[in-house]
Amino acid sequence: MINSSRPIGVFDSGLGGLTVVRALLDALPAEDLVYLGDTARVPYGTKSAEVIERFTLEGATFLLSTDIKLLVLACNTMSATSLPALASKLSIPVLGVIEPGAEGACKTSRSGRIGIIGTSATIASQAYRRAILRRRPECQVFSQASPLFVPLAEEGWEETEVALLVARQYLGPLVAQQIDVLVLGCTHYPLLFPTIQQVAGPDIRLVDSATQTAAEVERHLQSTESRNTGAVGSLRVYLTDIPPSFIGMAGRFLGRPVAHVERVAL
Ligand code: DGL
Repeated sequence: MINSSRPIGVFDSGLGGLTVVRALLDALPAEDLVYLGDTARVPYGTKSAEVIERFTLEGATFLLSTDIKLLVLACNTMSATSLPALASKLSIPVLGVIEPGAEGACKTSRSGRIGIIGTSATIASQAYRRAILRRRPECQVFSQASPLFVPLAEEGWEETEVALLVARQYLGPLVAQQIDVLVLGCTHYPLLFPTIQQVAGPDIRLVDSATQTAAEVERHLQSTESRNTGAVGSLRVYLTDIPPSFIGMAGRFLGRPVAHVERVAL
């Protein structure tokens, strides 16, 4: 029997995973959340699968020491490259963002022409493509690595002329394929939602993996009867480095100020 009052661990390569925390706070306000951001080593999206897998295990080991009942890999890059290997080593359930994002895309798409954007590692892993084709083998999946969206979101430049130019460059080939759904397969991309929607046009529906993941976590807690029935939950944030830009960035990703933050070594 799971002790439902234990916290949920949320792990990301940096602060971007706070977009997943934001969706979790909205969907599950009674849960206690422990967030780990590996800010000293971010980005993961440009690293090799082997290194990402090692970093993922190190972060997960730290979160396990905080007695979590469930681990959410909020990072698309980690979920795409390291989830099965990690899940086989842990004694608690692990949920990633790829399966919920793929599920959302398959439910939303009518034409079966689906676009995916993510970091270079996420796109190279083909994890979204596999997850979509497992559900709907008739689909056509078009992928585009979009690494420059990450620093644009971190810089607070998500609604600038530069962001529009970058979005046109990345999304042009996907739009030309007449996709009807575009999956935002990276923690940072929800911040660029208006810019991406503007470039994609009104006929393309954007699927945000953060929101889909929060819904999946809710279903999991329900089916395992491990939902916290207490009052308002808490949020503890652990980072491997606290950069000077932390307060501004965290506020933008989370949509509210972060009250408790501590530095940890992995
Ligand atoms: N968190 C990563 C993701 O969702 C983006 C940042 C990085 O490259 O580490 O893929």
